[in-house]
Amino acid sequence: MTIHKNFEWFKHKTVYQIWPRSFCDSNGDGIGDLQGIISKLPYLEQLGIEVIWLSPVYKSPMDDMGYDIADYFNIDPLFGSNADMDELIIAAKARNISIVMDLVVNHTSDKHPWFIEAKKGRDNPYRDYYIWHDPVNGGAPTTQRSFFLPSAWSFDSTSDQYYYHAFSNRQPDLNWVNPQILEEVCKIMNFWLAKGIAGFRMDVIELIGKIPLESKFTSPRAHELLKLIFKHTLANYEQTISVGETGGATVEDAILYSGNHDELDMVFGFEHMAQDEELGKSKWHLKLLNLPDFKRVFKKWQNGLYQKGWNSLFLGNHDQPRPVSRWGCDGKYRIQSAKMLANTLHFMQGTPYIYQGEEIGMTNYQFGSVDEFRDIEMINFYQEYINDAAWGKDRVMQSINAKGRDNARTPVQWTDGNYAGFSTAKPWIVLNPNYKQINVANDLNNPDSIWYFYQHLIKLRKELAVILHGDFKLLDEDNLHIFAYVRSYQEQQLYVISNFSIQTEYYTLGFKGKRACLLTSNYQRESLPINGVFELQPFETMAFLLD
Ligand code: GLC
Ligand code: CA
Repeated sequence: MTIHKNFEWFKHKTVYQIWPRSFCDSNGDGIGDLQGIISKLPYLEQLGIEVIWLSPVYKSPMDDMGYDIADYFNIDPLFGSNADMDELIIAAKARNISIVMDLVVNHTSDKHPWFIEAKKGRDNPYRDYYIWHDPVNGGAPTTQRSFFLPSAWSFDSTSDQYYYHAFSNRQPDLNWVNPQILEEVCKIMNFWLAKGIAGFRMDVIELIGKIPLESKFTSPRAHELLKLIFKHTLANYEQTISVGETGGATVEDAILYSGNHDELDMVFGFEHMAQDEELGKSKWHLKLLNLPDFKRVFKKWQNGLYQKGWNSLFLGNHDQPRPVSRWGCDGKYRIQSAKMLANTLHFMQGTPYIYQGEEIGMTNYQFGSVDEFRDIEMINFYQEYINDAAWGKDRVMQSINAKGRDNARTPVQWTDGNYAGFSTAKPWIVLNPNYKQINVANDLNNPDSIWYFYQHLIKLRKELAVILHGDFKLLDEDNLHIFAYVRSYQEQQLYVISNFSIQTEYYTLGFKGKRACLLTSNYQRESLPINGVFELQPFETMAFLLD
């Protein structure tokens, strides 16, 4: 194996995540699809993004919206055909956009032929593709919970054994102790790489090779397995990009994963996402954010990975609520606070990820009833807790509306027309009624919109070396309302100051006598105060260079 790779090729690029079911519907069945994505490539090119992370489009019963795969080599007919996928890869490339596919290999669907075979009995040649165990004291082998259900084990009456699933009972975990799994997975990856995709986002990848009887999700073998996967797949291609979903990773783990680019190029850590939940409990246990804690997580990751690894920068995805509803204000200051959040994130070191609709400041939807839920995690949480005395309906709905995954899964709002321009038919999930005001067409018509703010940020990242290479220093760490930092590179200093509060705040910075160049502002600020005392409006943000 010879690896002559240039890992710098993607570092100035911004990634855009598409969750296909809700992006754009081309054939009027109410479900987004690949031709819908192709029709929006000019839009994405105009925004300036250069990589698309495509959530799963493989054949699937959609128990977990495609994160339960029944056939890794074929596109689900709901989304189109393999020919459509080839067309997407080529059409995107023509616009300098690379495609990253989702790789979900911690588990398969229960409808995957391997599992259908495995279930036939203990002697089936595919039995060992999955994790089976005899009952212990007449029940499940361990008391471990799954992410979606009270138990990670389900009983199979044909063989009188339990099988293991970290997620739903229709997502049985693959048995990575069996070396054939590695071989099968490399085959899948090479199949798509040969078609011209640039790489993979690897779903819950820190879980592969776990030891189920230890009742822990994380695996002692993840690094070893990722090195082997890399060697047999990505290593043999020129320009690749890979990102692992490793929710539990520490900075030290992230360096092991991404430091040498021989496992992954970067990981998604979730530490910043956990700052508004009660420590050690679930995401549904809401807690008010303490800004200094939030800032310290970024400081830890920015400094920890500096020259040792590479960060991924994200505030939203298909599993998280809408950032503007979560950390900003989705009412009166929606536009200002959406820009403020983007500005705070996009000047850090790493690869930014924009989740569809974030670029126009889409908001959470307020769910009124369980009939509107489509997400298995939300539905299961609701059913499990609705009769729990410590919860009750109001608290359950409050958590759902704050954190439920369907908040991010309502259709992208393209216009104020029928079905928000997403489809010509009723969409598979509720539309957020605010599409009349919040939609892409409106933003494109307004040079001061959130959309143009993102476009500007994406462009700056391609132009300014300090964003790529500068070090990171958090300023005024204990300040409860202001998130301020400075990036330094050679003679240049890049300052970012954001007001996370709904009040006017004062902030003093000593920079007298230096030449300043304002890069961004969400209040049409034209210059910096000569005395260095900033009066910051609600959710005001800015970035400027000093040299
Ligand atoms: C990841 C995905 C999520 C999915 C889960 C199981 O966390 O992002 O959507 O439900 O893995 O595949
Ligand atoms: Ca469709």
